[in-house]
Amino acid sequence: MRAWRVHELGEPVDVLELEDVPSVAPGPGEVSLDVAAASLNFPDVLLCRGEYQVKPELPFTPGSEVAGTVTAVGEGVDTVREGERVIAIPKFGNGGLAEETLAAAATVYPIPASLDWPAAAALHITYQTGHLALHRRAALQPGETLLVHAGAGGVGSAAIQLGRAAGARVFATAGGPEKVQVCRDLGAEVVVDYRSDDFVTAVKDATDGGGADVIYDPVGGDTFDRSRKCVAFEGRILIIGFTSGRIADAPTNHALVKNYSVVGVHWGLYNLMEPKLIGETHDELIRLHAAGEIAPLVSEVLPLEDAPEALARLASRGTWGKVVCTTRAAA
Ligand SMILES: NC(=O)c1ccc[n+]([C@@H]2O[C@H](COP(=O)([O-])OP(=O)(O)OC[C@H]3O[C@@H](n4cnc5c(N)ncnc54)[C@H](OP(=O)(O)O)[C@@H]3O)[C@@H](O)[C@H]2O)c1
Repeated sequence: MRAWRVHELGEPVDVLELEDVPSVAPGPGEVSLDVAAASLNFPDVLLCRGEYQVKPELPFTPGSEVAGTVTAVGEGVDTVREGERVIAIPKFGNGGLAEETLAAAATVYPIPASLDWPAAAALHITYQTGHLALHRRAALQPGETLLVHAGAGGVGSAAIQLGRAAGARVFATAGGPEKVQVCRDLGAEVVVDYRSDDFVTAVKDATDGGGADVIYDPVGGDTFDRSRKCVAFEGRILIIGFTSGRIADAPTNHALVKNYSVVGVHWGLYNLMEPKLIGETHDELIRLHAAGEIAPLVSEVLPLEDAPEALARLASRGTWGKVVCTTRAAA
């Protein structure tokens, strides 16, 4: 089978090599999968560069989430069967940018026949993160105001949809007029091109000076610093990621004076600490999708061979929504 592998760290286009590698049988507690679709995520870029918080041994295959068919189950696995269509988080280092992959059975979730492969591959990490962040970490209430930064991106587009499904007023920021339009099409009420306009003023104007109750921040850096200026009384700023490249400091005196919370979100940790919650959230996401309340914004479906160039565009803000790579198994 073919897999994209990294032998030395660097930019995805420079270091990813498409290689023929032997198929691997699942170990105890694992399943093997024929990958039909692998959705790209910013952390895949960070993994190639060696900048992700956890570093796999070289050589490794990136690819953080897939949809595919179970081909074999390892010893002790009774939660999933051979032949089932599933969403899965591939075993770290043995990732999804490949024709076959391995996953712990505990991170594999069934999907209905109505969900096509690219949509299935795009319905997991970003929506799980958004749902747990908005509901469990921020306790977003109907009628509250939610500001989503980088709203046209992978996690951003999911958060806009989930915010609307929760009955919130959703505002968004995005870089450039095309991405602003993407956010509007997703249903954001106020959208600011934060490359040219000040989102603090726009949020205050739209809330009679009150500010946003919940701010969803995958960007960090200056965007976090400015968010503190427009967070509401008892607001919650959700720390999702740092695509700007700078991890901002949160001055605790400011949080005290304005009565707001800075709330960390690490979705992957729920897999270790509260795996049952991931399964429950999966069921809720499938329900919301079937009800037409959420639908992954898959902007591009490309062959697996095109993954490095697609990751390069993702790293340089050249994509919107989710980019998904498919294999022959998707046909
Ligand atoms: N906390 C968690 O559990 C969790 C889970 C999943 C992902 N994440 C994190 O969420 C972040 C977004 O991931 P994603 O997969 O949604 O990525 P994505 O689709 O590429 O979206 C990221 C967006 O960030 C914006 N951005 C702002 N400054 C940037 C810069 N200097 N370079 C690149 N992009 C910049 C861009 O939108 P504009 O052009 O509109 O500014 C870009 O499209 C990543 O940091 C990822 O690690 C966290």
